[in-house]
Amino acid sequence: MNLHVVDRGSGPVLLLLHGFPLDHTMWNAQIEALSATHRVIAPDLRGFGRSSVTRGTVTMSMMADDLAGLLDAIGVDEPVCMCGLSMGGYVAWEMLRHHADRVGSLVLCDTRAVADTEEAVTGRMAMAARVLTDGTTPVVEAMLPKLFSPATEERCPELVDTVKRTIFFTSPVAIAAAQQGMARRTDATFLFNQITVPTLVVVGEHDSISTVDEMRGIAQQIPGARLVIVPDAGHLSPLENPAAVSAALKDFLGEAGQS
Ligand code: MLT
Repeated sequence: MNLHVVDRGSGPVLLLLHGFPLDHTMWNAQIEALSATHRVIAPDLRGFGRSSVTRGTVTMSMMADDLAGLLDAIGVDEPVCMCGLSMGGYVAWEMLRHHADRVGSLVLCDTRAVADTEEAVTGRMAMAARVLTDGTTPVVEAMLPKLFSPATEERCPELVDTVKRTIFFTSPVAIAAAQQGMARRTDATFLFNQITVPTLVVVGEHDSISTVDEMRGIAQQIPGARLVIVPDAGHLSPLENPAAVSAALKDFLGEAGQS
């Protein structure tokens, strides 16, 4: 199993974990902006981008174990700033559960901490089955309308198109595997009061998947966490308002003593 990774710059490590069903390129603006001062590591999670695809269910804790192995392989043994968007956030919870010594600070971007409802699990299993028979078009159709703010849809059709193409060209096997893995994830809210590292919570003001209210609730329950609401953005805030998200990361890394 090979993980493709972008590893740029030097200094304190910022690990960027992408959402589903995307790849590390969703962080291109942040890689550019932060690699002048930080070592920015942006992997393609198992199955996505140019990383190996594996069959069956890929759980969030398998992805976390992959990351711990990756950090070992590239010689990172100090705790890092772990920044995950949506599915990347689910993986960050598993890093806290199983590899807490790797996490020096935490950025939770447009993500959730609760487990899926029964209805959501059913939806994921249906999508997992369908993508294997019908390919990725139904996934594009199901996901695309939920990802962006009205401002992005109006002003940045080329961005919407790039994301559409990324989803379309993602491996159906990887999509099925991650959907099954996300369906199996368990509640992570019990972790909130155990988090002792500096934490930033970032959410697009129009995120319809992980809403501002839900993300505000997460920020309020993690000791000392700060909330940043990203204007004009939906679920993919780092892509939709890259300057605001890069600035929030820069400020946070400074406050966390990781600049
Ligand atoms: C993501 O952006 O990673 C997805 O919305 C996660 C999910 O399907 O729960």
